[in-house]
Amino acid sequence: MTDGWRAWLAQEKGAPATLVNRTDEALRVDGVTVDVEYSSVNFKDGLALMGRPGVVRSFPLVAGIDLVGTVVDSPTEEWSPGDRVLVNGCGLGETDDGGLTERARVDASWLVRVPDGLSSARAAAIGTAGFTAMLAVLAIEEHAASTGSAPQGGRPILVTGASGGVGSIAVALLASLGFEVTASTGSESSHDYLRALGASDIVDRHQFDEVGKPLQSERWSAAIDSVGGPTLANVLAQTEYGGVVASCGLASSSDLPATVMPFILRAVTLAGINSVYCPRARRQEAWDRLAMDLDLGLLDSITETVALADAQGVAERILSGSVRGRTVVDVKN
Ligand SMILES: NC(=O)c1ccc[n+]([C@@H]2O[C@H](COP(=O)([O-])OP(=O)(O)OC[C@H]3O[C@@H](n4cnc5c(N)ncnc54)[C@H](OP(=O)(O)O)[C@@H]3O)[C@@H](O)[C@H]2O)c1
Repeated sequence: MTDGWRAWLAQEKGAPATLVNRTDEALRVDGVTVDVEYSSVNFKDGLALMGRPGVVRSFPLVAGIDLVGTVVDSPTEEWSPGDRVLVNGCGLGETDDGGLTERARVDASWLVRVPDGLSSARAAAIGTAGFTAMLAVLAIEEHAASTGSAPQGGRPILVTGASGGVGSIAVALLASLGFEVTASTGSESSHDYLRALGASDIVDRHQFDEVGKPLQSERWSAAIDSVGGPTLANVLAQTEYGGVVASCGLASSSDLPATVMPFILRAVTLAGINSVYCPRARRQEAWDRLAMDLDLGLLDSITETVALADAQGVAERILSGSVRGRTVVDVKN
């Protein structure tokens, strides 16, 4: 394809991205050329598409931190035309042209093979959000294995920002692995949705809004937090002796108004989760686990699909907190 194809381009700082026509001459010189089939809208894509700061580092840049597609052309023997591949993060849509496009050329080392049995549309539905949730679950499992503590041995695992992309897939994954899950949400209309994903209990997120005592009653064996700020401080203070909290996001705040008390008096571990620069072997491990552990019927039930031209409308909604679950972008549509 050398004639035009469409892409969401962030043209300048502070301005919303625009849907433009590009040609192959606009692609980077080196790398694997991918016929993109699907992308998705994560919180970061919302920021990039609406011209908000913090994601796009150079202009002009194609937005989109996820892509799923088929290899068209590869300079390395590792990848061949027809291979089904995906990229999450790796600078996509931040420092390099991203995935909200019909065509991309990316570094060969960023590519992950889409696991057999997982359709390209479902791989995009999982996207960075689901990949991040899986990394958090792996951190909890590995913590339990290394300390001999059993997260399912009594108290539930808390998931905050539960109706969001990361949170929804975290709830579904943990429940399918047999953990008891409590979901924290600010959305009353999401209670049935979260129970359908496998949450056995639901708490109002506003109980975490004010920073409480440095050590509070132990409520959680572990937690996956997408919210940050006072929420993360309170969750740390409520995590049981030897527990782990996987910090994924900052939907509320990048602050951490906490003390060291949970660490030094309860041996709580704060595990940092970063999907963008995750090493390659870990990426494939996480994707293989997602293909195995995630209930794909549930994934379908939390996924909305939109055409490429409609991605910006979803961006606006994700920033206002009114998107639930995952949104796939069918870029050929
Ligand atoms: N570490 C990484 O590599 C990585 C990867 C992906 C995402 N992230 C980060 O993780 C966070 C979640 O991403 P996402 O794509 O899941 O976003 P999302 O779909 O917008 O979900 C965020 C959820 O957080 C809750 N929330 C929103 N504003 C809040 C506030 N002010 N206070 C408390 N809760 C609030 C809402 O859930 P309820 O309505 O249920 O309360 C919302 O659905 C973002 O900060 C994102 O940048 C990090």
